[in-house]
Amino acid sequence: MKGRCIALLFLSAATALPGESETEAANPAFTPPDRSLFEEGRYIYERNCVVCHGVRGDGQGEMAAPMTIKPRSFRTGDFKYRSTPWGKLPTTDDLLHTVHDGRSGTAMGRFTHLTDLETRAVAEYVKSFSRKWRKPEYYAMPIEIPPEPAWLREPVALAPRAAEGRKLFIAHCAVCHGENADGKGAAAVGLKDERGDPAIPADLRKPHLRSGSELRDIYRVLMTGLNGTPMASFAEQLTTEQKWDVIAYIEALRRTEEARSNHPDPSP
Ligand code: HEC
Ligand code: HEC
Repeated sequence: MKGRCIALLFLSAATALPGESETEAANPAFTPPDRSLFEEGRYIYERNCVVCHGVRGDGQGEMAAPMTIKPRSFRTGDFKYRSTPWGKLPTTDDLLHTVHDGRSGTAMGRFTHLTDLETRAVAEYVKSFSRKWRKPEYYAMPIEIPPEPAWLREPVALAPRAAEGRKLFIAHCAVCHGENADGKGAAAVGLKDERGDPAIPADLRKPHLRSGSELRDIYRVLMTGLNGTPMASFAEQLTTEQKWDVIAYIEALRRTEEARSNHPDPSP
């Protein structure tokens, strides 16, 4: 038994090509935090972010307590809004995007008054709160999102795919998001994030999600998951085609909602 383990270890070491192991500094995604911007970043952070994210980056700023969706702690190194696979750090661009555009429907507003350099500096400073940012194995390149299938925009072609998607949605998503994607699944109420705060499954019928307003943003979330929350990655569980089918179901629900709000039932 022992001999077999050693042989296996040897085998895996021998088959790993240089640069293949993510733990090596050769990971091309590894770009250590730019410490030269920390001082500037701290200055921006203390004036713009501390009230919510806290001096120590733990999300416990003085304004945080009454919020339903709490400011994130930067100390665990778990980020929701990423273009990278599950468990990895976001790219610098992902951070810049959150700070510049905010996250709709939460207290995380848009910081458009900051210059590009100031936004960059505060993003680098956010990286000072977790050791993960010093470890190459937490870095990864953004995932690839295939082009959106044209049939998603064609009602006749959409219908059969949406019907397939509905079955997949019921099997994989409904327990949390509800059969009709309204966020009211059987398990929804008790869900917590990594800090024990409520994690609320999104009403996916809304066209503007926190993760973005494009259908490809849903695809991205299905690939990456939202780290630190019960929203896992479905990268392996669903094929590319199945992911678009699930999105077709959400798109079909949105169209029904839209049609309903454009033609309300005549009042009696
Ligand atoms: C008024 C409160 C408030 C202020 C001020 C604020 N944030 Fe946030 N921030 C939040 C909340 C709430 C969230 C959580 C949003 C969510 O979970 O969807 C958040 C989320 C984030 C995230 C996303 C984390 C993730 O999981 O991907 C980043 C990055 C971030 N904030 C950076 C900043 C920076 C940098 C500043 C200052 C320039 C700042 N925030 C100022 C409330 C705030
Ligand atoms: C175990 C419960 C659970 C399951 C299963 C689940 N989700 Fe989620 N989902 C969540 C929670 C909780 C959130 C919100 C996380 C947060 O931001 O705190 C979420 C967020 C999302 C978001 C991002 C919403 C936004 O506002 O940006 C999308 C998109 C999404 N889920 C789609 C799906 C789809 C599609 C499936 C099935 C393939 C699925 N989810 C399965 C719990 C779940």
